[in-house]
Amino acid sequence: MTESSRPPVLVTGGAGYIGSHTVAALRRAGRRVVVLDTLERGRRDAVVDAELVVGDVADRALVTELVERHGIREVVHFAAYKSVPESMDEPGMYFTNNVAGSIALVEAARDAGVTALVFSSSCSVVGNPPTVPVDEEAPIAPESVYAETKAMVERVLDWTGRTSDLQSVTLRYFNAAGAAMDGTLGEDWSSTTNLVPLVMRATITGSPTLQVYGTDYPTRDGTCIRDYIHVDDLARAHVLALDHLADGGATTVVNVGTGVGSTVREVLAATEAVAGRPVPHEEVGRRPGDPAATWASNDRARELLGFTPEHDLDDIIRSAWEWFSSHADQPA
Ligand code: WQD
Repeated sequence: MTESSRPPVLVTGGAGYIGSHTVAALRRAGRRVVVLDTLERGRRDAVVDAELVVGDVADRALVTELVERHGIREVVHFAAYKSVPESMDEPGMYFTNNVAGSIALVEAARDAGVTALVFSSSCSVVGNPPTVPVDEEAPIAPESVYAETKAMVERVLDWTGRTSDLQSVTLRYFNAAGAAMDGTLGEDWSSTTNLVPLVMRATITGSPTLQVYGTDYPTRDGTCIRDYIHVDDLARAHVLALDHLADGGATTVVNVGTGVGSTVREVLAATEAVAGRPVPHEEVGRRPGDPAATWASNDRARELLGFTPEHDLDDIIRSAWEWFSSHADQPA
């Protein structure tokens, strides 16, 4: 791999799940990387072949010093809290960290000469989508504090693009899942509320039993439909977004999903096929706030970024199974 002569990319939250996979994708593309992470929820060992600076995006002096010292012009911004339930219990903590922190980062980066930023947002900014597939024109209707914080930062970035040279691509993730296809990185299941890692944990360790939230939805098998996108594909979309900005692309919002929906039961079946054993689960009532079905229109990602997903649900399940089976000793 030939190392790019371009300045390094600053990746905030690069010690996290999607952040660490994106650092790896940037390295594969020959880009040098500096990671800024508090390690409050990230893992030091997830940062591979990149400089790790332990610190907070809210620290304007630190961000300014990093940008000026390295001549940084591009940022990928992941650093945020991401638990929907926690955000409803601790709204102040989420607004402070996710919104105020992002504003501090954007202003310090802009003032120090950064001209390109890729932002980690979420399909959850549209809440329960009125129609599927969901495109980027869907009305913004957050149904959680977490989603609200993402929607607010999207607005800050839109206005930043109109009032300064700092242009951005906001990526609205659908359901990120799976682990690095080369086996080097994966998710930490210790604090997740997401389906795939919880399915793996129930199947590998036997507990806790997976609770299937609702089997009476108006879908093909009664369980919710989601657009599960492999974390390697999602990581690659960030590299393509930086390329778009480097080619003079203007500020925009892009959905990143496969365009294919899978039900909870289909996730269980795919897991049982890989594991060769059943997933210990029980069917319980609906989880409040869950849309019955959501999956992406990824036309803009294809047309604007040249993005096409390379992995399907089976790759997600197989890579997650490989990762969690060999890392089951994770802190509970
Ligand atoms: C998926 C499906 C549940 C757990 C998440 C994030 C959101 C955004 C998109 C990033 C749902 C069902 C889950 C369980 C279950 N990501 N489920 N039992 O809620 O679609 O959204 O990804 O920004 O912010 O929250 O993901 O994995 O929680 O749920 O039945 O124990 O699995 O009802 O239908 P969700 P999820």
